[in-house]
Amino acid sequence: MEITNVMEYEPIAKQKLPKMVFDYYASGAEDQWTLQENRNAFSRILFRPRILIDVSKIDMTTTVLGFKISMPIMIAPTAMQKMAHPEGEYATARAASAASTIMTLSSWATSSVEEVASTGPGIRFFQLYVYKDRNVVAQLVRRAERAGFKAIALTVDTPRLGRREADIKNRFTLPPFLTLKNFEGLDLGKMDGSDDSGLASYVAGQIDRSLSWKDVKWLQTITTLPILVKGVLTAEDARLSIQAGAAGIIVSNHGARQLDYVPATIMALEEVVKAAQGRVPVFLDGGVRRGTDVFKALALGASGIFIGRPVVFSLAAEGEVGVRKVLQMLRDEFELTMALSGCRSLKEITRDHIVADWDIPR
Ligand code: FNR
Repeated sequence: MEITNVMEYEPIAKQKLPKMVFDYYASGAEDQWTLQENRNAFSRILFRPRILIDVSKIDMTTTVLGFKISMPIMIAPTAMQKMAHPEGEYATARAASAASTIMTLSSWATSSVEEVASTGPGIRFFQLYVYKDRNVVAQLVRRAERAGFKAIALTVDTPRLGRREADIKNRFTLPPFLTLKNFEGLDLGKMDGSDDSGLASYVAGQIDRSLSWKDVKWLQTITTLPILVKGVLTAEDARLSIQAGAAGIIVSNHGARQLDYVPATIMALEEVVKAAQGRVPVFLDGGVRRGTDVFKALALGASGIFIGRPVVFSLAAEGEVGVRKVLQMLRDEFELTMALSGCRSLKEITRDHIVADWDIPR
């Protein structure tokens, strides 16, 4: 059967993957209210398309932290991709470079920063979880720098792991033939089985719950790479991120896997954009599955978006080819959305091209 949109990979992945793995990829926290809301909220935004504009040429290129990419669609960090496909993060890295876009590698990847770098050229960011042992963090950041990663996405919404009930029921743990490759030599590459989610126990044991704004400053003393604060949902924290020296902000609720009943990211975006006042770029992830979603995020002020689950599901279904197709389908849909709403370049996408149900009636 021909795949015509990125959502079609999810049921295929469900069929192919062991239940424990699929559930880990698919789940949100607790009632999964935010998980649904991340998708539903996009349907509360409608277009105000402009007509009779020459759209015979559409330019989707953009610049992120000074790096030119082909489109404002990038890859979010998702952990343990070799559970989806034997080529895991290698496949994702190759698909991202083929599409001339950015891949973010998770701290908890099943391939190391060096291994991913060895797949060939490409612009890559490294997602950082801050461990209690700061020597581990400093070493890892240095390795990412040396391997040519261009920015650090500092995840700030995970002092503890959200309660993902399927993972608890399944006693989720990393399969024994895989390791968290970045931590292999540091004796932190394995996840013990436990009577909880194995990942929740790992986080409770290793991740620094005391992480605070001063640590964002500390991070800047150990690296010259720009830092994106990933997990901002309020204007207050947008301002604090900028004060703390962030080079950019990612509006994210971790794919609804952390605190349930936070708003959909597309609902939180505009307040963050306003607070940032153009001082740093604001990005969004969470529930982006259509080119129209990408357009809506840009109309609300995002400089680009990241996708999470579509990557692991397409990886499970078809490996690198699948991830390539996901990027291509979103690209094609986004280009069509631009054409049909009368925008020829990203800078022509404005707030007036959409109307949200929270807007005052005109
Ligand atoms: C994630 N996410 C995530 N974030 C992070 O900072 N480090 C990580 O290791 C992971 N791992 C991870 C695994 C899986 C299976 C998922 C689904 C998500 C969150 C991710 O970066 C991103 O915020 C969301 O996935 C975006 O939402 P969508 O596109 O999945 O709806």
